[in-house]
Amino acid sequence: MSSHRLPSRPAPTAAPTTTPARVRAGRSISVLICAVAVGAATACAPSEGAVTPSLAAAAPASPGTGASASTVGAPGIGDPDFPTDGNGGYDVQHYDLRLSYDPASRKLAGSATIEAKAVQDLTSFDLDLHGLTVSRVTVDGGAASFSRSKDELVIEPGGQISNGARFEVTVDYSGVPEPMRDSANLGEYGFISTPDGAFVTCEPNGAKTWFPSNDHPSDKATYDFRITVPAGLTAIANGEMAGTPQTNAGKTTFVWREKHPMASYLATMTTGKFQIRTGTSARGLPVYVAVADNYRGSLDQLYTQTAKITDYWSTVFGPYPFSSTGGVIDDYAAGYALENQTKPIYGGFSPAPTIIAHELAHQWFGDSLTIKRWRDLWLNEGFATYAEWLWAEHTGQYTADSAFRRYYANAADPMWSYPPGTARPDDLFGAAVYNRGAMTLHALRREIGDDKFFPLIRAWTDAHRYGNVTTQEFISMAELISGKNLKSLFDAWLYEPRRPAPIP
Ligand code: ARG
Ligand code: ZN
Repeated sequence: MSSHRLPSRPAPTAAPTTTPARVRAGRSISVLICAVAVGAATACAPSEGAVTPSLAAAAPASPGTGASASTVGAPGIGDPDFPTDGNGGYDVQHYDLRLSYDPASRKLAGSATIEAKAVQDLTSFDLDLHGLTVSRVTVDGGAASFSRSKDELVIEPGGQISNGARFEVTVDYSGVPEPMRDSANLGEYGFISTPDGAFVTCEPNGAKTWFPSNDHPSDKATYDFRITVPAGLTAIANGEMAGTPQTNAGKTTFVWREKHPMASYLATMTTGKFQIRTGTSARGLPVYVAVADNYRGSLDQLYTQTAKITDYWSTVFGPYPFSSTGGVIDDYAAGYALENQTKPIYGGFSPAPTIIAHELAHQWFGDSLTIKRWRDLWLNEGFATYAEWLWAEHTGQYTADSAFRRYYANAADPMWSYPPGTARPDDLFGAAVYNRGAMTLHALRREIGDDKFFPLIRAWTDAHRYGNVTTQEFISMAELISGKNLKSLFDAWLYEPRRPAPIP
């Protein structure tokens, strides 16, 4: 089952299913505790909205120039491990992407309109763009000059954009997209062409392979997609479809809209020949599932499991944050899945329910609550892996506790030397971030009890819905809700390069 995903992520084998500590146990008092926690959390850790300015301030625009005095937007948003990812000086509100893709020539033509707000005075700023040819850039309707330098598209509007002003940039571009091929254990990602279309998975920084963007999770925005492909193919993006696809002169245009804030790495324009099933989950959520033709036998099971698991997680993690759920199986053998917002994508395999449970848990942990810096990735992967254990526990396969103990028993596991609280840029998706990250949550659950742990999880998703988060904010909320000092627990599990002491 897990051989399809990350190479070194063995799932625990089935274990005895006596389940003393059930997910359900924490629910009865959750409303009370959440109410307390949310008030306090909002007071101590507001993170929605203006994360970009503080991050941007950390990235020098040019050496020796005070970032606040410069009118040059920094080429990076300030992630210490990915210094050129994202950009400083502005905050994107919305992307309006008009895209046309021809699988035969592999040519993409795009016009991207980006609505942004300046967070400093700007005479120049960057967008991230990998390859492709830019033909024209306008800022607020006026022609702007531009240049390219590696993956930076440098734009000079010709006047100054004042701090706080809203502005609109349109970039017209075309070319054959090149995916990212990285040595840092990331495989191939971004816009990947397939015989009948494209498989588009962008974590961590592959959005720039198909649209000019502020390509870093700390700048979330809403999206409109208008995607044109040869008639007979389907184009799938995030959110919901606006109207029925229109076919003209042998081409079909699909309009999709994601109205909730989204990180650039979760955006997709996956295209090809697909079998589609749509409907509504038992709790009333729209479901859209698509599978490549040779996975047609998996369509119904992906649909059923996706609907059921999304509904179940909404009873455990809090209300589902988006307006639809779904999933896509494409026939490109990526060897991994990605939690694309509203529609996780499975790269060339029919996912087991625990994997669907993992990707759908990301809709809360990663997609609704998005990390500010990549080193905090355990907030995504540790939580989603723990969700696999919770799903196994819920369905009577094995308990989270048995999964924890199975990993703990292996003193030689390399994850003990990789502290998951600081995901490494050269091994971002290391097994420790997943498994030791999940173990961290289990150690916390044992320490504070189910009656605090599950309310904490719900307070966490509630307080930071659609926002950006840090590990420190999670630790603070855990301490607040449990009333315990948890520093040594989190230090041992997240930050020390050795196996922590056994838990009770
Ligand atoms: N977030 C994905 C998951 O755990 C993994 C993405 C891996 N990305 C990559 N470029 N290898 O579901
Ligand atoms: Zn994951």
